[in-house]
Amino acid sequence: MSENDQLLRLWANEEVMKFREMVQQDPYRLHYHLMPPVGLLNDPNGLIQFRGVYHVFYQWNPFETAHGAKFWGHYTSKDLIHWREEPIALAPSEWYDRNGCYSGSAVEWEGKLHLFYTGNVKQPDGTRETYQCLAVSEDGVHFEKIGPILYLPEGYTAHFRDPKVWRQGDGWFMILGAQTLKEQGAAVLFYSKDLYEWEEVGRIAGSGLNGLGDFGYMWECPDLIRLNGKDILLVSPQGLDVAGHEYHNLFQSGYFSGAFDAQKLTFDHGPFTELDRGFDFYAPQTFVDESGRTILFGWMGITDEAEQHHPTISNHWVHALTMPRELRYVNGQIYQSPLQEMKMLRKGKVETRLSIDGAEELYPQIAGKSIELLIELVETRGGVFEINFRNSAKLIYDEARDEVSLIRENVKTGKLETRTSKVSSLSAIHVFLDHSSMEIFLDGGKEVFTARYFPNVEDESIVFAGHAVLDVKKWDLQGFE
Ligand code: FRU
Repeated sequence: MSENDQLLRLWANEEVMKFREMVQQDPYRLHYHLMPPVGLLNDPNGLIQFRGVYHVFYQWNPFETAHGAKFWGHYTSKDLIHWREEPIALAPSEWYDRNGCYSGSAVEWEGKLHLFYTGNVKQPDGTRETYQCLAVSEDGVHFEKIGPILYLPEGYTAHFRDPKVWRQGDGWFMILGAQTLKEQGAAVLFYSKDLYEWEEVGRIAGSGLNGLGDFGYMWECPDLIRLNGKDILLVSPQGLDVAGHEYHNLFQSGYFSGAFDAQKLTFDHGPFTELDRGFDFYAPQTFVDESGRTILFGWMGITDEAEQHHPTISNHWVHALTMPRELRYVNGQIYQSPLQEMKMLRKGKVETRLSIDGAEELYPQIAGKSIELLIELVETRGGVFEINFRNSAKLIYDEARDEVSLIRENVKTGKLETRTSKVSSLSAIHVFLDHSSMEIFLDGGKEVFTARYFPNVEDESIVFAGHAVLDVKKWDLQGFE
């Protein structure tokens, strides 16, 4: 390990020691989501189950609650519920990654854990350089940097990053997010026999390919996966215009389904579908665990104007990951559902039938900051009903329009903002609240709304209004510390 590397680790650890307590006592701290010990977290990275242990790495700036030269922070778990903070995996210490060890992925090969990441470099004159780098570990905790294994090919700007690597046949593929010289977003494929020497295959998706028109100026964090016989490209495009209920966040995350031909090296795909309908969801990544499940973590945040207004910043931290979700592909669409393991967090159950008729009603037994609610719609009679979470965010179901909306206050402007999704004949709403986050799964995960919110700390109320008969189950959820 270089001297620079040791110094950066030392300073980062000092920063953690200085502010850990302050973060711990923040009333908006999350209790069953992965968040940074201090500082800013963004994308999940390097997700893998290695020798039975789950590893989650994440983009981390330990020094500020702002973006900067990112480290890879590291958590491990045996059950996806109880997590352990590991030593820093990667620090931005070398000439090829000194302005950030940016996002990437992990594979196991010959008993070793291999991390692929983007070395981000900014020259004093503002020009950017990008290197795809490799780091290897025997024990899954201490990593040796090998250095760049891939340089920027012709035809792209230096916005070229986020390698996702997987094994197929007797070789390896790597897919990267890119911007062409015409400033169009793309996903670019590479091939290797040995993980060290990579040859360019070319663009397999992007603006102007596969019947896709102009589709953003940059694509980040691509992930090509297989679900139920389909090949699916998850990707986070930047620069899409609002269209109806779609694309209201600054940047998007979604997927194209189709067929990847590993011989012809083509990917035929259909239209783009957003993965999440809420306000705070970006740069998701997946991995397949030893039981064969495809599990996704997303960043429960986004680089928008509001992020610097989160009240957690005064306590030296910002952002978190989503809870892990299992992906399935049913009737041409991805479903996301909470993992079975989440049930381990449940304590005390309340079960009741609510008949809501007009005015706002508070059911004192259905309240809390860290709870799971499973709401089955028994009768709605074509009307509207709403659930007000802690007087700070509202979910509204309008049966006649077949729409669900989430409304909250924008932390920057203080104005109400709305996200809406079509849902035909909604039958169930599954809600996970964790102090300052909400994840709402509709009809078994057909649509999901993910959002941060910052209610009055004392307020634990859940208020129902409108017209409906609902069967509600509620569990308190304990933290995983
Ligand atoms: C996505 C992203 C990635 C990049 C990383 C830097 O949020 O911009 O493209 O690798 O974050 O932290």
